[in-house]
Amino acid sequence: MGIEGFRELLKSSRSIRRYDSSVKISREELMKLIELSRYCPSANNKQRLRFRAINDEEGCRNVFSNVIFAGSLGKDGTPSPGEEPSAYIIFLNDNGVGPARGEDIGICAEAMLLGANLMGYAGCMLGSIKKDSLMEYLGLSREAYEPVLVLALGKGIEKAEIENMEKDGDTAYYRDEDRVHHVPKRRLGDILI
Ligand SMILES: Cc1cc2nc3c(=O)[nH]c(=O)nc-3n(C[C@H](O)[C@H](O)[C@H](O)COP(=O)(O)O)c2cc1C
Repeated sequence: MGIEGFRELLKSSRSIRRYDSSVKISREELMKLIELSRYCPSANNKQRLRFRAINDEEGCRNVFSNVIFAGSLGKDGTPSPGEEPSAYIIFLNDNGVGPARGEDIGICAEAMLLGANLMGYAGCMLGSIKKDSLMEYLGLSREAYEPVLVLALGKGIEKAEIENMEKDGDTAYYRDEDRVHHVPKRRLGDILI
């Protein structure tokens, strides 16, 4: 893949929050995505992150109830029945290794999101997590592990488009009357200083 292909992959790998939940993602596929994290940079090479793959019905129902989709769209942001993700990867910081590093989390999350897109799926990083309740379900202690991100995955059915934002314009994403999701992005000239 050349730079143009990579740019297109990045451009098309938007945060997607509506899925065809009848399309399942196998454990093997989730393992392929989690394995990508092994090839990612990590501050001091500490490799603080641990992962839990969820693709069973009960697990998905539970994780779904412990995350918030598109908070700024209000109730509309939550996937409707039949449009929920069919799998999740929970990112956990191993506190025994050291405090969480946001950089490590972001790098691994984007690697997995791009990988998922290459596999024909879509996803969304979710930082809004009801941590106590999720950890109770996972049976893990918060002293030992910190849930830092949830990557929702599924067969995307939502159309999402990037828009060039006016300088100092509104960064808020929105949905139009056809439920197309619009994501304003700053222009190249506006991110150079
Ligand atoms: C660290 C992080 C946390 C996020 N948390 C949430 C979240 O809790 N819920 C959600 O619906 N989207 C979440 N997102 C997705 C962002 O809303 C999304 O990246 C942003 O709107 C830009 O859209 P794009 O990813 O398509 O470029 C998160 C993204 C990142 C990087």
